[in-house]
Amino acid sequence: MRIGVFGCGYVGLVSGVCFAHMNHQVICADVSAEKIATLKTGGLPIWEQGLQELLEDVIDRGKISFTTDMAHTIQNSDILLIAVGTPSLPDGTANLSYVWSVVEAIAEYTDHHKLIVVKSTVPVGTSDAIKTYLDEYGLKDKIIDVVHNPEFLRQGNAVHDFLHPDRIVIGYEQDESRRIMNELYEEFPSPIQFCNRKSAELIKYAANGFLAMKISYINMLARLSDQLGADIEQVARGIGGDRRIGPSFLKAGIGYGGSCFPKDTKALISLARSVESELPLIEATVDINETQPRYLFHKLEEQMQHFEGKQIALLGLTYKALTDDIREAPSLEISKRLMEKGAHVKAYDPLIRDYPIPEVSLQPDVISCVTDSDAAIILTDWEEFKRLDIPDLVARMNNPLIVDGRNLFSPDQMRKWAEEIDLAYVSVGRPIIQSGLNSLTCSP
Ligand code: UDX
Repeated sequence: MRIGVFGCGYVGLVSGVCFAHMNHQVICADVSAEKIATLKTGGLPIWEQGLQELLEDVIDRGKISFTTDMAHTIQNSDILLIAVGTPSLPDGTANLSYVWSVVEAIAEYTDHHKLIVVKSTVPVGTSDAIKTYLDEYGLKDKIIDVVHNPEFLRQGNAVHDFLHPDRIVIGYEQDESRRIMNELYEEFPSPIQFCNRKSAELIKYAANGFLAMKISYINMLARLSDQLGADIEQVARGIGGDRRIGPSFLKAGIGYGGSCFPKDTKALISLARSVESELPLIEATVDINETQPRYLFHKLEEQMQHFEGKQIALLGLTYKALTDDIREAPSLEISKRLMEKGAHVKAYDPLIRDYPIPEVSLQPDVISCVTDSDAAIILTDWEEFKRLDIPDLVARMNNPLIVDGRNLFSPDQMRKWAEEIDLAYVSVGRPIIQSGLNSLTCSP
């Protein structure tokens, strides 16, 4: 099938490259000439595991091309897939200006029959509004349907998630579009759920809201565990073992970040308010998440007393491992707070070479980052941090304090080390481990 993809961000690029990999003929379009130039030479404007190899293969096989030319993309495709960003506006609502500028171009350049597939996360009712707009533009006979087909991929696992989705959701109106979408996803090993457009749009927000809620739930209990002297990892294991609850998304830590959960939870709240409804569970989810970095900071503060002139090492800057994305990353708030209190901040992240806070001194590796520091704070769950040689690390520090915002280390192992070397280990929802002292609980 001939597919035109609008937007070369995480969703658009991964979709375009994966559909090309499934032998469809794909044109990827973006307004950024710089991005398109990079892609044309086989480079990637983002880092995504496994995408480079697939991209090179589909370019070699002539299955994909890249352009800034909207008219060319529209006129040479039968399926038009909208995958542009819908960032938050200051009031939390989704900014749909990129979506509408693609729709306006489609209205202007459509010459033969097209199926429009909206993959961007959009407020409920947007796909209906796009269909009405195109009908009123005089394209009722040429636009087969506007379908909403949400994407559930995780950055870092996006290629795998795209090719092996748990389910494919398709919101549609016309039988003809159902037939085309069945053909588009023919080779995929996943069940397809057909529903109306509004339900498909809500499914995306509801899924992200639920996952975010699981994370805030476990972080809420982590704070309680700190008060009570329980271990949140054991609690998560105990509740996740119940198949009705399941073990995933119950990892306590510094809170969720990224381009989806923070944006989509706020958009869901705004959406509900627009119809005079309330979503107290999602509001609490957002509130817990926004206070979680502060909670960890408070734990650090209790250990440090003051930050004036102190050297603090941040390990990890991205919002999670396996991505180079720092959107809504907890590292942003933590580094700002540290600097406000007079600390010097050094940081190491395996994928970050450029950070928006220039005062944060980027280091080439863990060792140079922690050397002479007064505390090391783990903010991202990178595999290489899980394998850190803690005794070697603290031997290089000025003060042997490790604050683990991702609970990467086992308390038993830390306790053993604390008997052998001078060490203080603070994590989330677990007792503090400190040389010369029994496990302590920490008040929030
Ligand atoms: C998420 C959804 O998983 C995906 O379906 C949707 O399409 C886009 O948003 P992504 O943002 O790539 O994907 O990352 P994900 O792996 O879901 O993690 C989101 C955030 O939650 C990260 O900051 C991560 O560190 C945090 N997280 C995740 C936890 O703190 N605890 C957990 O148990 C799981």
